[in-house]
Amino acid sequence: MTLDIQTAGQIDRASFFHPFTSVADLMRDGPTIMVEGQGVRVTDIHGREYLDGMAGLWCVNMGYGHPAITEAIAAQSRKLSYFHAFNSMSTDVAIECAEEVLKRAPVPMARVFFGVSGSDANETQLKLIWYYNNLRGLPKKKKIIARKYGYHGSGVATASLTGLPSMHGLFDLPQGPFLHVSSPHYYRNAPDGVSEREFSRQLAAELEALIAREGADTIAAFFAEPVMGAGGLIAPPEGYFEAIVPILRAHDILLVMDEVVSGFGRLGTYWGSQAIGVEPDLITAAKGITSGYFPMSACLVSPKIWDVIEKGSETAGLFGHGYTYSAHPVGAAAALATMKAIDEQKVVANVAELAPYLHESLKRALGDHAHVGEIRGRGFMVGIELVADRATKAPFKPELRTGRQVLKAAAERGLITRALGDTLVFAPPLVFTRKDIDELVSKFSAAIEAVEPSWLT
Ligand SMILES: Cc1ncc(COP(=O)(O)O)c(C=O)c1O
Repeated sequence: MTLDIQTAGQIDRASFFHPFTSVADLMRDGPTIMVEGQGVRVTDIHGREYLDGMAGLWCVNMGYGHPAITEAIAAQSRKLSYFHAFNSMSTDVAIECAEEVLKRAPVPMARVFFGVSGSDANETQLKLIWYYNNLRGLPKKKKIIARKYGYHGSGVATASLTGLPSMHGLFDLPQGPFLHVSSPHYYRNAPDGVSEREFSRQLAAELEALIAREGADTIAAFFAEPVMGAGGLIAPPEGYFEAIVPILRAHDILLVMDEVVSGFGRLGTYWGSQAIGVEPDLITAAKGITSGYFPMSACLVSPKIWDVIEKGSETAGLFGHGYTYSAHPVGAAAALATMKAIDEQKVVANVAELAPYLHESLKRALGDHAHVGEIRGRGFMVGIELVADRATKAPFKPELRTGRQVLKAAAERGLITRALGDTLVFAPPLVFTRKDIDELVSKFSAAIEAVEPSWLT
């Protein structure tokens, strides 16, 4: 690092166009500049250390500086730093990686397609679905159903699929054959006195009515995250997928599980699909596949879909889709080392064991707090929704920017969280220990306490 602290901040503001950032906030407050990471901690340019309660962006599952993963990346860069996979080209590591991913699939999967991000992987899924129905002679069956507050990426199609208004307005989105059904947000959306199961039945009825209105012969697929992440950390209510999936099956509508966050252990099962008990036709993975060390994604394709693609290939010709960096050998090496480390360090079992402790500890510390509306989630995904009035669930005035205030107070105490509006979320590395959880809860409680007086004004 050759830049001094002040210059780094100035150059950042003057030259760096940040993703998902308020330019006004950046200009006012400047960036937070990280320079090092080790285990579950990162250090900023001032030498301040933070416990990373978000595993970067829900991705550094094995912690920072993992010796086996960093070494695999270095060794592969030296051996074969790049080769592509177009026109039947392949690499030894990509072959091994494909086999290892399929071995771990929650249901038998026929093939895996590699990309570089969750967004491009969901883009691939959309194109695969349309390709599949064209090959089946069903050219009308193209609409895609997703959920309000679902997050599936930020490309033109995947941001359209995403159910967040903030990603639509000024970008002229959504565009394309995308339909959104209600979010399964029990705390916010369920009518008073309705049980979780009854709420799930109501959501299933809404889906059924939409299919009847649009015509099942026009609907191709349903996209869902096992637990909704970026849209506010929303776990499905009891009986939700049980009620939804049979409707999809009855109408020949594919189920795509977006496991970009939940894949590779985050919910205490290897796949989120296993945690919620569904058998998807297509699975999207990214983030945890390399523990965030290298941009890589995977689309897992079921035999039912693959058979149609394989049979159709004599007449369809070239499968005209892919990326320069699909199946990048360095990414494949990173993924192989990550999968091996997940197994050897038994991190999925660690999450299964410690997730109840994480949720209970937060509830013990903050569950009765006058401004904590709900503490929710599953596995190593937890959200704390702050409200102005617990009894009425009334939110804080947006101009208070309560979530952001708490996020800053937590950072001042050496803890990284993320504010999704006024819901603060944690998705820690899967190698978190009981002690790390205690530290997280104590620092977060102190942050809430520090900000609280400003809510009363
Ligand atoms: C569920 C889900 N799908 C897709 C994406 C998009 O992934 P990426 O940011 O790698 O494009 C994300 C990113 O957070 C995600 O959480």
